Amino acid sequence: MSAPNKSYDPVEVEALKPEEIERMRDEALAAFAAAGDLDELAHAKVAHTGGTSPLALANREIGALPPQAKAEAGKRVGQARGQVSKALATRQAELEAERDARVLVEEAVDVTLPYDRTPSGARHPLTTLMERVSDVFVSMGYEVAEGPEVEAEWFNFDALNFVPDHPARQTQDTFFVQGTTADGKVTTGDESGIVLRTHTSPVQARTLIDREPPVYVVCPGRVYRTDELDATHTPVFHQIELLAVDEGLTMADLKGTLDHMVQALFGPDMKTRLRPNFFPFTEPSAEMDMLCYVCRGESVGNPERPCRTCSSEGWIELGGCGMVNPKVLVACGVDPQKYSGFAFGFGIERMLMFRHNVEDMRDMVEGDVRFTRPFGMEI
Ligand code: DAH
Repeated sequence: MSAPNKSYDPVEVEALKPEEIERMRDEALAAFAAAGDLDELAHAKVAHTGGTSPLALANREIGALPPQAKAEAGKRVGQARGQVSKALATRQAELEAERDARVLVEEAVDVTLPYDRTPSGARHPLTTLMERVSDVFVSMGYEVAEGPEVEAEWFNFDALNFVPDHPARQTQDTFFVQGTTADGKVTTGDESGIVLRTHTSPVQARTLIDREPPVYVVCPGRVYRTDELDATHTPVFHQIELLAVDEGLTMADLKGTLDHMVQALFGPDMKTRLRPNFFPFTEPSAEMDMLCYVCRGESVGNPERPCRTCSSEGWIELGGCGMVNPKVLVACGVDPQKYSGFAFGFGIERMLMFRHNVEDMRDMVEGDVRFTRPFGMEI
């Protein structure tokens, strides 16, 4: 067997010439230096170190050389490839550092900027207070009943025992709505028979006509009167009405219910008092006061501790109440021999004013979120 041929003629391989290898290396180094970002460098990397790059192709030629030439060429190509990959790593590190520095600037977050450019809103405190009061009664078994804001005069006044020339009709400063009679005649002014309801009491009559007693309903809603908007009046406001009709209800039930309501809303030591008054739809009727929730009555006769909220009277007027007038029961088809009832009603704006120290009612209607937001998001 012959020994391996270690002395065949050297073969000239163009790609392996020193100046060729140098050129390939220099081109690679120049391409890396010219790469302006990591994407360009990735392309240059493939072109100059990939499987089909000039240096890789040259490397493949080495195998065909005789031993001495193979060693020299191998060393030359190896060194060149080493320099290329070192230059690549250096440029890679430079470009990454540049990118990181740029990202830090471009994606910097100013943590002092306001975090809520579109701030979330809040529900209007009148709405949440109405719901809160209604919930007190719902938890006692009452149902919520609603009626229309554009109301028949009959429900707003007649069914509630306001006789046509009753002075109380004038006290309610009514908005009349244009209407049409059955034969198509347009009616205007106070002949139309249609009003914007002046109170939530017509829901009492609607409920009694709709349902058989026992009836226990709470009726929150919007009401209208021809008042000018000022610090203590608004032509559109809100009331809550309560109606209970059952066998054997008395004024004591009314008083207990009122006490429970103010205790649920203002604290367990709260109480109410009733003062005689007149409403056509209740008999007897009363004005209902609650203990001043600020001084709890302690300012009365105590000049050392005056109370601004109740003007040192110890009580705050909340609304009207009484036993449902039997005439109302009759008008709504309920037998007054069998059933009796109590009712009360009050304004939510007023309650919001003294419960939250709101001094000007206009704040409640102007729609400025700076008024609403501090009440928070109560659901
Ligand atoms: N509807 C009356 C008003 O707006 C308030 C009122 C008084 C309601 C007595 C009642 C009541 O249910 O019994 O002035």
